[in-house]
Amino acid sequence: AKKTVLGPLIGAIDQGTSSTRFLVFNSKTSELLSHHQFELKQKFPKEGWVEQDPKEILLSVYECVEKTCEKLIQLNVDISNIKAIGVSNQRETTVIWDKFTGEPLYNAVVWLDLRTQSTVETLSKRIPGNNNFVKSKTGLPLSTYFSAVKLHWLLENVRKVKKAVEEQRALFGTIDSWLIWNLTGGTTGGVHCTDVTNASRTMLFNIHSLEWDPELCEFFDVPMEILPDVRSSSEIYGLMKSGSLEGVPLSGCLGDQSAALVGQMCFQEGQAKNTYGTGCFLLCNTGPKCVFSEHGLLTTVAYKLGRDKPVCYALEGSVAIAGAVVRWLKDNLGIIKTVPEIEKLAEEAGTSYGCYFVPAFSGLYAPYWEPSARGIICGLTQFTNKQHIAFAALEAVCFQTREILDAMNKDCGMPLTHLQADGGMTTNRILMQLQADILYIPVVKPSMPETTALGAAMAAGYAEGVGVWSLEPEDLSVVTMERFEPQINAEESEIRYATWKKAVQKSMGWVT
Ligand code: G3P
Repeated sequence: AKKTVLGPLIGAIDQGTSSTRFLVFNSKTSELLSHHQFELKQKFPKEGWVEQDPKEILLSVYECVEKTCEKLIQLNVDISNIKAIGVSNQRETTVIWDKFTGEPLYNAVVWLDLRTQSTVETLSKRIPGNNNFVKSKTGLPLSTYFSAVKLHWLLENVRKVKKAVEEQRALFGTIDSWLIWNLTGGTTGGVHCTDVTNASRTMLFNIHSLEWDPELCEFFDVPMEILPDVRSSSEIYGLMKSGSLEGVPLSGCLGDQSAALVGQMCFQEGQAKNTYGTGCFLLCNTGPKCVFSEHGLLTTVAYKLGRDKPVCYALEGSVAIAGAVVRWLKDNLGIIKTVPEIEKLAEEAGTSYGCYFVPAFSGLYAPYWEPSARGIICGLTQFTNKQHIAFAALEAVCFQTREILDAMNKDCGMPLTHLQADGGMTTNRILMQLQADILYIPVVKPSMPETTALGAAMAAGYAEGVGVWSLEPEDLSVVTMERFEPQINAEESEIRYATWKKAVQKSMGWVT
């Protein structure tokens, strides 16, 4: 059969906490041509610990690439049209491996992991000079969330890691580095690099100078020789070493939340997006300015789309648990068999009947940064059933976003007039309507929810030496928008929100 002729194609690896995907887009229209997804396991070896197998993550990427290529071939698409590949990834998750064997020295310590709670307490007592030492350099509060603390724990507690560091065999990376090192070199090792957005989540990176910070490395006892090179988010890092796409350049790399900001074309100061994945992350572009939050938000690198291009920063509101609460209802309580079923249950309930669910499984992130919080379901009566709990779980995602939006509006001084949403959960229409009701502003979502992958593909296609994506607004011509208007009255919305805040207070201080 005749092969379908298309513009240059760009692939995107979207390595999230819950799943890995490989997607292929047409660079001329942004149309998604095909994709493959692999659901990942998470290990919970102890209460509060969250790990993943770096090898499983890597194999999932290989499998997704191969399966997507097979699907494209079946569609009569010539895969030699794939001109570049971008990587977007779950951020902060920490991997340390042996550079001679390619073997991980420990499981990946996932961003949600809480084992470093006491490490954080010890480190905070050691902060030199003023308390702002870490925050002023990194934009981040000292928390279990970021890589440096996880790395400090690994270096202190895992003999194999200590030994490999002493023998100069160890390399550190967030998931992007782990993948790029493997994809460009196989087990003998390729390019050891990361991009500015991922580096900005390690807590070892100075977001002003855009370099690893020797004082921070000393503070966290991290030897600088194990760190990857820091590159821009859009340049050729290396070529695929094997598989159906052997020889294709890897030329885009962004932490997944930055990738979504790019995918939603939030290139102007004041433009913001909220991505509903495992967690939920609202990022507002602040342009070349590092804006420091007074209300519990993070300052982070948004993107730097080329070696000689300017850096853009963002204010970020991070919510640890969004889609993860639905997965918990499925895996731990078994009240749904598949994730999409939550929508039907919530629809049957129509309301939570006074039931509130604070899913503080990993403590509370923004705006509270409260590691002592734990999940609670409250307001139960004998009338409460699984439908109400399902509804309360979706409402919790929306209330958490409301808290972030309030903080963002205060820090930016210019309230957002609508919310640009994306991510897997946005296919849930009940969630989107609830979100509009609870924020009391319209929520707008693209017809194609894979904005994170799109952003990584755009960065890869835009890179010098690839040059097939222009990043102009018409690039998104096939993406249509759907709008959800608030349908309840403002007073009702405020009452529900006030009760949510009461529930949040009750979730705090469960562990000391
Ligand atoms: O900071 C963690 C974040 O990058 C994880 O994203 O898509 O797995 O919720 P996601």
